[in-house]
Amino acid sequence: MAARWKNTLTENDVTPEAVYLNRRQLMVGAGTAGLIGLPGLARADALEPNPWEDITEYNNYYEFGTGKEDPAKYAHMLTTAPWSITIDGLVDRPGAYALEDVLAKMKIEERIYRFRCVEAWSMVIPWNGFELRDLLEMAGVQTAAKYVAFETMLRPDEMPGVATPVLDWPYVEGLRLDEAVNPLTIMATGIYGKDIPNQNGAPLRLVVPWKYGFKSIKSVVRITLTDAEPPTSWKKANTREYGFYSNVNPEVDHRRWSQATERVIGGGLFAGRQDTLMFNGYGEEVAALYQGMDLGINY
Ligand code: MTE
Repeated sequence: MAARWKNTLTENDVTPEAVYLNRRQLMVGAGTAGLIGLPGLARADALEPNPWEDITEYNNYYEFGTGKEDPAKYAHMLTTAPWSITIDGLVDRPGAYALEDVLAKMKIEERIYRFRCVEAWSMVIPWNGFELRDLLEMAGVQTAAKYVAFETMLRPDEMPGVATPVLDWPYVEGLRLDEAVNPLTIMATGIYGKDIPNQNGAPLRLVVPWKYGFKSIKSVVRITLTDAEPPTSWKKANTREYGFYSNVNPEVDHRRWSQATERVIGGGLFAGRQDTLMFNGYGEEVAALYQGMDLGINY
């Protein structure tokens, strides 16, 4: 097994205050309007995590409504305990695993990741979670497996949004197996060291930081190992606009908007727009997965 991925973005990486203030003076001198056009200043990658409020009050979780504030308003209706995850398909040890039994075996760590939604906004989120590959190893992936399919809980009584057929419920997602076992891919259980709030996908959600946010499926109840590409909710809803891969890519625009830049959520020094990074800045870790593939076709 490959070496564990080293979390290079920690709270210690937050730009030291002196540098921060200096840079601000620089920018005031340059004029903020010129920010995007200035080489080297096109992105401010201090990776200061967004505050708790940004992360937990501006959400996409359509099972609770399509408004950004709906999940924070209604997701408390979801019962998240007890919770079990069914792992099935091409695995040696299929079954329904109680979440507490899974968590007892997993190593929870902090990962501060950029998070980029396909709607062209971004945040920086300090997740707590474990590597998906450790969970897959627990279930024993068979050699015929090529893909991993994921499914969100579907409980119409607790999810007011599913009364509207915006998507074909339950929400489903998928990864290629090599993407799923990449050390960057985690199952998140917390944010800022606290239990993950329901609106962010409690009690367990996928986080794939180099892909658009909709791949990071929430409140997962089933993980299935397959030999064929699994269906994914947004691709089913609109194949022209959403592909299976959905890697963050400034050069491949959405059919209806540019992906070259992104709106930075929250106030602060770098509020506004910034350039989108290829693979959301994780190219060093993941570019090899797509060698030889045309990412314009495999969007
Ligand atoms: N998972 C489910 N089950 N339902 C959803 O509507 N929205 C996706 C993704 N996971 C979604 C989901 C989208 S579009 C994004 S951008 C992220 O969750 C948002 O995650 P956040 O609310 O924690 O920022």
